[in-house]
This record gives sequence, C-alpha cells and structure tokens, in this order.
Amino acid sequence: MVDTNIDKIVVLDFGSQYSHLICRRIREVNVYCELLPYNTPAKVIHEINPKGIIFSGGPASIYASDSPIPDKQIFEIGVPILGICYGHQLIIDRFGGRVKRSDYREYGSAELIVDDACDLFDRVGNKIRCWMSHADAAEVIPDGFRTIAHTQNSPSAAVVNKGKKIYGIQFHPEVIHTEKGIEILKNFSHRISKARPEWSMESFVEETIRDIRIKVRNERVLCAVSGGIDSTTVAILLYKAIGSNLRCVFVNHGLLREDEQNQVPKLFKDHLGIDIIRVDAEEVFLTKLKGISDPEQKRKIIGNEFANSFLQIALRDGPFQWLAQGTLYPDIIESGVSKGPASIIKTHHNVGGLPKGLNFKIIEPLSNLYKDEVRRVAKLLDVPAILLNRHPFPGPGLAVRIIGEVTFEKVQIAKHASKIVEDELICAGFYDKVWQAYAAVGDDMAVGVLGDERMYGHIVIIRVVDSTDAMTANWTRLPYDLIRDISNRITNEVDGVTWVTYAISSKPPATIEPQ
Ligand code: XMP
Repeated sequence: MVDTNIDKIVVLDFGSQYSHLICRRIREVNVYCELLPYNTPAKVIHEINPKGIIFSGGPASIYASDSPIPDKQIFEIGVPILGICYGHQLIIDRFGGRVKRSDYREYGSAELIVDDACDLFDRVGNKIRCWMSHADAAEVIPDGFRTIAHTQNSPSAAVVNKGKKIYGIQFHPEVIHTEKGIEILKNFSHRISKARPEWSMESFVEETIRDIRIKVRNERVLCAVSGGIDSTTVAILLYKAIGSNLRCVFVNHGLLREDEQNQVPKLFKDHLGIDIIRVDAEEVFLTKLKGISDPEQKRKIIGNEFANSFLQIALRDGPFQWLAQGTLYPDIIESGVSKGPASIIKTHHNVGGLPKGLNFKIIEPLSNLYKDEVRRVAKLLDVPAILLNRHPFPGPGLAVRIIGEVTFEKVQIAKHASKIVEDELICAGFYDKVWQAYAAVGDDMAVGVLGDERMYGHIVIIRVVDSTDAMTANWTRLPYDLIRDISNRITNEVDGVTWVTYAISSKPPATIEPQ
C-alpha cells in the first residue's frame, strides 16, 4: 500500500501475462500504479481514488460464457479508462459495438497507422511498429467512439470516446516490441488522466519503511536471507524500519555456492552491521532429497525444509509474528499465484504460502517489483557492490542445477565447476555484464581419456545468460577462447567430469535454470 494522497493509476487484471508489466511501465513514467483483480468492486476502486484505470489484455473471448467482466459501475467513476487488447474489445462490446470472433490469432509485429494524432498518440508519429496478440477484433465501433489508428488486419486498432474519456487499443503498448509504447502509456497517465509524476524509487523506499512500521508495530520479524540482492534489500528495509525487532536467518542447505555459508554472514556483519543466525541443515536437506528426481518435488521438499528450519529458529529464539521474504513479482507470476490466471512455470520455493503449522504472517515488501527495480532500490540503500553485483541464485540452490537425483558427487561437481565459471568470467571482465553464469550437471556420462586411461565421466553444462528481468533471457555469446579456457579448467580440475557443453537455448522456450 502507498500514501493515499499520491496520484495513481489502477490496472485491472484480465489475465494477460503482461498485466503487471503495464504497472511497471506506468511506474517508469513516475506514476504509482496498482494491479487489481478484474472484478474489484467499483466502490473499492473509487475509494482508492485513481486518476485513471487501465483494463489489461487477457486470453478470454468476450463471447465466452465465463469471460471476465468488470463491475459495470466502473464506467460511472468518471476517470479516464484505457482498454488494452481484451480490455479494448470489452469496451467495444460494453458500449454496443461489435467484436468479430476469430479462431485465427494475429500474433507479432504489425504496422500501426495513426489516423488522428490526438492526446493518446502525442509525440508518437504517424506510423509505428506495434505488438499484436489477439484473435477477436473490433468490427463495428460503438456510437460516440471514433477510430484513431488502424493496422492492416485491425481497422479499429485504436478508438476513443472523447466525451467519456474512454480509449481502447488492440495492441500492447507495454511490451518493448511496440515502438513508443511508453509514450502512449505516458500520454494516458500524464496528459489524459492528469496523474502527477510523483512516484520514484526514493519515495518507494520511504513509503515501504513507513508501511513496515505501521504493519509490524512492536512485533518481531524473522527474515530469511540468502546473500542475494532481494533478501538483502528486504533485510535492510526492515532493519531501518524496526531495528532490533528484526532477526535474520541464513539456512545452509548444503546446496550453496562454494563457501557461501561463511561468506554471507560475514558480508552482512562487515558491510551492513546486521547479525545473522546461521542454521546448518545440510544433512536434513540432502537426506530428504534422496531418490528424488522430479524438479517440482525437489522444490516442494526444499520449501518444506526451509519452513522447518524457520520453525526451529522460532522455537529457539522466538516468538516471531512475521516472516519476511524477498519475493519478487516474476517469482509470483511464474509460480501461477498472481491475481490473474497466468499458468504455472515453476513453483518458486518462497511463493504460494507456508506449510500448515507455521503461524507467521508474511511480509514481502518487494513483491511488486522486478529485479532491476530491486537493484535500483538496493543502490539507494547503499548496498555494497560486492553484494549488489552478485548474480541471482535460486532459493533451492544447486538442487535446480542438478538434473535428476541430488547426489553428493553431483553437488561437488556443480559447486566446483560453477566456481571455475564465475572466476573465469570475473578474470575476463564478463561477470558484471551477464545476468547469470554457472555450471549444471546431470546423469549423462561420456567417455574421455585421462593420460592413457579410458574414463567414463559426467557431462557438465555451462549456462551463461543475458537478461534484464529474468522473464526472458538470451544465451550469452561468450568468446570461444573463454569457453575453451573454462572447459579446460573444468575437465582438468573437477573430479569425475569428461565433457563440457555450452547451453545455447534462450528463454523462452528454455528457462534459465534447468530444473
Ligand atoms: P527460470 O529458471 O524460471 O529462472 O527461468 C528465473 C530466475 O529465477 C531464479 N529462480 C529462482 N529463484 N527461487 C528463487 O528464489 C526459486 O525457486 C527459483 N527458481 C529459479 C533463477 O535463478 C533465475 O534468475
């Protein structure tokens, strides 16, 4: 929640994978933005007092019997409305126009011709590339509306009813493939809705600290930290808000990067002045993972064991009323628990609620942000470079970089080979340029020769990717010589490895972690 006096835009979520991205883009133009379920009562929205409302896209057809429909009174609130894709069709239908049903999906880039450079298209130009992802399309526009832009396949790709301040666009201005998409969203929020650009990362930090104080009062918070940028940022925000009522815990599950269990508590103490309780639970985690190959099962077991560790700490050092986590928005959307009906990709261990028996209230101050936004918050909080520039590391650790069963041998290989990948990238000046870099290992074996001896050893996969928010990623075109050096070092220095491969799949269709 945020200061009620700040100007804001509300996005209603009709189920698009991009709904939250709209909010992020609005924040990029310095207007605070909240995502709400499509069926939020108009009364509630009225109380939030937004300057404008955006209807997101969504996978439904407005002709489906169970299609998501907003509260009719929303159109009476009197603030400007912008419908995107499904939201656009909803507006056409609601005001008596006609939407043409189609089984054919127009997906990809199209040329948008601006017919009327009105306020929505101010400074956009006559022609832009825009991103389309729809089947149904507006066929007859309602009385009181006029077309302001078209594409070859969508004669009414943008419409307006000036009197009612209602706009509809068939394309997605929030995705980077739409040229000047940000200008269009800026025009809607600044010019049309007259929202003052008052939101900034500085105000986010202030508001969040204030909000934590109001929420937590004199209660105590247990904060799970990993040394990653997300949980570190959460810990600092909490420390600033509630001081000694915060206790940080670091769980050593035995699936960490090399020596991380010693480095992280030291970094926290030396650089941030925060003491960490370290729980050494390698044996418990590794025993529970014995015989388990299924990625989702591994994640669930690890999630449960994390919860058990927190419970032990709470019994020993508690009571704690709150558990703080560094959950980000992409964790939520990929785990399929966002407010809209997005599908599950992976269950991130810190998402989706705690197992029964844990009575903590959950506090997740970063759950509306993307990774690069968190980095900006962390910078503002003076997080030292050594923590700020560490690559993201998944909560379930090496378990998701080990394909198949987690065995002691594979853990050693993944740990040691990953250290070589990181060291070589640092030496070559690439570490800070890439999103993540590590080595994964599975059960595939290949023949090698060691001296004069035949050897049957593991195949290690090097994975290095570029990304800005982990929602999409490209494999990094590392120089061949660097890949060669990494490969040589791994086969020479890591026991049990005969072959090294380089992963050249981007996300999508692959994901960043193999499990
Ligand atoms: P994927 O593999 O889904 O990864 O493309 C996207 C980003 O999320 C990280 N990741 C996780 N982080 N808990 C986490 O805290 C998890 O369970 C988890 N799984 C993946 C991954 O390292 C990448 O940065």
